[in-house]
Amino acid sequence: MPDVVRLHYDVDGENFMAAGEASSAVKNVLRRLGFGEDLVRRAAICLYEGEINMVIHANGGAIDVSVSPQAIEMVLQDQGDGIPDIEQAMREGFSTASDRVRDLGFGAGMGLPNMRRYADSLEVTSEPGKGTRVLMTLRIAPV
Ligand SMILES: Nc1ncnc2c1ncn2[C@@H]1O[C@H](COP(=O)(O)OP(=O)(O)OP(=O)(O)O)[C@@H](O)[C@H]1O
Ligand SMILES: [Mg+2]
Repeated sequence: MPDVVRLHYDVDGENFMAAGEASSAVKNVLRRLGFGEDLVRRAAICLYEGEINMVIHANGGAIDVSVSPQAIEMVLQDQGDGIPDIEQAMREGFSTASDRVRDLGFGAGMGLPNMRRYADSLEVTSEPGKGTRVLMTLRIAPV
């Protein structure tokens, strides 16, 4: 494979029909690149949770993934309202999802905790009123 594979996706806000498409596309690319099932599954969970968060909480955003021989790096950037208290948002069960969104099955407050659990590193930066940036890295074990 080339040294670095780069993928870019724009994610629509509030479009629940398309929500999850970017993460499933990335999952397929990672499979085709020959990564193991466990790494592919972890990357897909992390990206799915981040993608859904942009759909639900930020009116959409952009995803950039880069795959090098060392790591999978996933950056999610949005121009939503931001997260006023990141520590609180990271807590299991914390959610500001509306009743309508909860009726669709989201809003358990488990997205960020899952991202922290399955990524090797997770960095969330947010400026209230301006947006949120999420960087997740998964290391690739040398063969
Ligand atoms: N991109 C974002 N923009 C603004 N707020 C966000 C964003 N991502 C997360 N949040 C805030 O952090 C909270 C916790 O996020 P988390 O993904 O853990 O739970 P959830 O999305 O509410 O529920 P679940 O992921 O279980 O469906 C959200 O309820 C929301 O308040
Ligand atoms: Mg979530």
